[in-house]
Amino acid sequence: MTGPRRGDWKNMGVSPTAKNVIQLPRAGRRRARARVVAITSGKGGVGKTNIVANLGFAFGNLGQRVLVLDADLGLGNLDVLLGIAPKFNLSHVIHGEKQLSDILVDGPGRMKILPASSGIQELTQLTHEQKVQFLTALDQLVDDMDMLLIDTAAGISTNVMDFNVTAHEIIVVVSPEPTAITDAYALMKVLSLKYAEKRCQLLVNMVATPREGEDVFRQLGLVTERFLDIQVDYLGCILNDEKVTRGVKHQRLVCDLFPQSRASRCFTQLAERMVKASPTSRPKGNTNFFWHHLVQSTPL
Ligand SMILES: Nc1ncnc2c1ncn2[C@@H]1O[C@H](COP(=O)(O)OP(=O)(O)O)[C@@H](O)[C@H]1O
Ligand SMILES: [Mg+2]
Repeated sequence: MTGPRRGDWKNMGVSPTAKNVIQLPRAGRRRARARVVAITSGKGGVGKTNIVANLGFAFGNLGQRVLVLDADLGLGNLDVLLGIAPKFNLSHVIHGEKQLSDILVDGPGRMKILPASSGIQELTQLTHEQKVQFLTALDQLVDDMDMLLIDTAAGISTNVMDFNVTAHEIIVVVSPEPTAITDAYALMKVLSLKYAEKRCQLLVNMVATPREGEDVFRQLGLVTERFLDIQVDYLGCILNDEKVTRGVKHQRLVCDLFPQSRASRCFTQLAERMVKASPTSRPKGNTNFFWHHLVQSTPL
């Protein structure tokens, strides 16, 4: 497959026609087939990358074709977690040296991975044009997939939000620590006030019991209901399990290495629940086109 080259976007019909309105080429306007899910968090270290990778693995076991995008552009470490050493990554695409399809690598199970680079600050400061070009190429690549999982960086920077608002579903990951909870609230506040998001899902990681996950959801729900115009749905929880850390040390996924562990069973059940959830129940059910936000909303 051939994607756009750097600088080509003007010739592809991807050109700003008015402030805040971008025209995508026809290919970018077709009906989306892949389900696009962004996994994000206010605070770092709450388990996003482990969740994305293990969910991707579990979805693969359910017969889903999954593409995982490491969108932690400056400090991506999905490849390290998976014990793979890709020769090329997103920095080569952004610099026009490779097409997106060239950097695609096989992950564990049936996952395909788009690796990011680490330590290249420039990647965290992409121009609007570079983002449009990148998302247009990504749009073409996900055509063959059932699902795109986006592992974002932590926080509320524009880069993180760009990926969140272009996804069909936003999963906010939080751990039971007070700092993670307040940072999750800050993230939801920005999603709601600045980006007019109406819905997101909460996944509580590293809980001692399912009850602890529900308590965190209740706590956050109380304040979001009172102060924000955003509906937060409870997606579930992943139990704290030292086997996750053991897997990380061996650069293997817990679902792969210890499929019967507490955490692995949570990932499998969560993947099953998500696959069963019908497309109409997706938070953005009216988002017919993949990069809907690129066409109709604020500039990236
Ligand atoms: N369910 C879990 N149980 C135990 N430890 C976990 C769990 N999820 C994540 N961790 C630990 O948290 C660390 C950070 O996870 P990571 O996925 O890198 O977070 P993030 O991507 O949000 O920065 C991992 O190295 C792992 O050891
Ligand atoms: Mg991470």
